[in-house]
Amino acid sequence: VSLGTMNSLGIDARARYFVSVRSVGALRWALGWASEASVEPLILGGGSNLVFAGDFPGLVIRVAIARRCWEQVDGDEATLVLGAGENWHESVLYAASSGYRGIENLALIPGTVGAAPVQNIGAYGTELQDTLVEVSALDRQTGNEVVLTNSLCHFSYRDSVFKQEPGRYVITTVRLRLSRTRPFSLDYRDLADYFAGQDMRSLNPLAVANAVMAVRRRKLPDPQQLPNAGSFFKNPVVPLATWESLKQRYPDIAGYPGDDSAKVAAAWLIDQCGWKGYRNGKVGVHNRQALVLVNHSNGSGQDVLALADRIRDDVEARFGIVLEMEPGVIGASQ
Ligand code: EPU
Repeated sequence: VSLGTMNSLGIDARARYFVSVRSVGALRWALGWASEASVEPLILGGGSNLVFAGDFPGLVIRVAIARRCWEQVDGDEATLVLGAGENWHESVLYAASSGYRGIENLALIPGTVGAAPVQNIGAYGTELQDTLVEVSALDRQTGNEVVLTNSLCHFSYRDSVFKQEPGRYVITTVRLRLSRTRPFSLDYRDLADYFAGQDMRSLNPLAVANAVMAVRRRKLPDPQQLPNAGSFFKNPVVPLATWESLKQRYPDIAGYPGDDSAKVAAAWLIDQCGWKGYRNGKVGVHNRQALVLVNHSNGSGQDVLALADRIRDDVEARFGIVLEMEPGVIGASQ
């Protein structure tokens, strides 16, 4: 089976076996089949945060569990229940158009609901962990269905227990606590600029989602038009002292200083090394966001990873900062 349409980088890798599952029962069956056949299973959501370094010799299981309902509607708050196979962006629009706030800043992030907790998706000052109540998952270690509350998910910047213990949990359902009245998060510069001078009193979550979509469309390539996996590296976290000394040497450096550490904008570091808009035949660096690697024409996973290596080496040589890849790598060079 070709996986070309199942990963947002458009890498034409092949899977030996493939199944799409719509229920927890079917998921169990598929995992059981893989174990009896002694082939490795790979859980796939929207495929928007991974790089196929080669063909996958096992069973790709696409989780297509559909579910969307409300629980515990209580005053201004309600819990949105989403099946792992639901599309993330559509779920955001659904919540926002129902008048509920909390995930509108996460509009237009590609992928499925089940993939969202894995990297604790985040954008424009909001992270999934801010609204996530709990995740239901199949624990492959015990075979049991488990519920992981927010704190058990061990969330941090682009990280969670699902990354820390890869392969252990298969997420089946996500519960988010949303509110009709919580304040919007509009401090991120691009968003603040968008709303500058506007009357904020009549603002609703759909208007915020629309603003986020407009901002993203200006900078980030649509994977349908130009295959990519979003940010290819994490923004490196450095001690505040390092940030201060970088700031002295490079006064226009971009980043997000916090209380005791700072995130450096990896896009800025890569841009400074001259990579923005670079293209070597098949793959390249986006011309409006240096953090996004793009697949122009049938590049392989190896082509993408080779480019990433060159960028990482360059940034390390110039700034002494080692960039960490954000998407997961599947196959060959793992
Ligand atoms: N910049 C450059 N050159 C560029 C692009 C940006 O110098 O080519 C500088 C600018 O000064 C800009 C700063 O870098 O102000 C930050 O850029 P941007 O606002 O685009 O955000 P980012 O830090 O590069 C992060 C997330 C994105 C998320 C945006 C908005 C990570 C790894 N990336 O990018 O997430 O959408 O903030 O919140 O944290 C993703 O994870 O796939 C992703 C797209």
